[in-house]
Amino acid sequence: MKEIYNTMPSSNRPSMIAIDGPAASGKSTIGLRLASALGYLFFDTGLMYRAVTWLALDHDMNLHDEAAITALAEKTQIDVAPASKSDGRACDVLVAGRDITWQTRLPEVDANVSVVSAYRGVRAALSSQQRRIGKRGQIVMVGRDIGTVVLPDADLKIYLDASAEERAKRRYDEIIARGGSADYHNILAKVIERDRIDSTRDVAPLKAAEDAVVLHTDKLTVDEVFEQVIALCK
Ligand code: CDP
Repeated sequence: MKEIYNTMPSSNRPSMIAIDGPAASGKSTIGLRLASALGYLFFDTGLMYRAVTWLALDHDMNLHDEAAITALAEKTQIDVAPASKSDGRACDVLVAGRDITWQTRLPEVDANVSVVSAYRGVRAALSSQQRRIGKRGQIVMVGRDIGTVVLPDADLKIYLDASAEERAKRRYDEIIARGGSADYHNILAKVIERDRIDSTRDVAPLKAAEDAVVLHTDKLTVDEVFEQVIALCK
């Protein structure tokens, strides 16, 4: 795929690519693959919200104290760097030089991240950092509000969707493949709850940008979704 794509004149390629969609819709898998096919930077913005959530939990902070959580987001230096280990990570997440990549995937982070990401001040702090990085171009940025708020002038906007059942199944399979144990119904309930909070919040709710291409992926394999996405880049 990379070879086929590289026959395209680079001036015709979209430089800022935004991929949004609900939990476990395949944004990271597709985004990472697309970025490596194009030789672009892959930036998963959800990791920044996850990092703040994990830090707040680690410091035993009250997650409902919006002012304190906002101050934490404003003062924390979060770095997302290329993966330094081959342990299944897409990239490293570093806070003050400390590797917290796997902590950001803990179930307690999953359960609380949507509360933290709904705070206006947290979003202002993190999305301005994201915008600064995105504006450099040659980037595939994934999240919930990239096409609508962070990079409204992105060259290509994709919204990946799938039913909650399909997404819960994908997340379940992912955990089992990593050797963990999981309960499908529990995952489904959490996916639905996170979608509800993400799409009904006042600030930057999850929704497709008006000029986004919406792909419904329920019946598609990862390869099929990727084919469609790469075709859009042409
Ligand atoms: O990987 P998954 O789709 O489960 O989640 P994620 O992309 O890591 O994002 C975790 C949470 O961060 C989401 O449920 C949102 O609440 C929040 N988020 C956001 O509000 N805006 C973004 N641009 C990215 C993530």
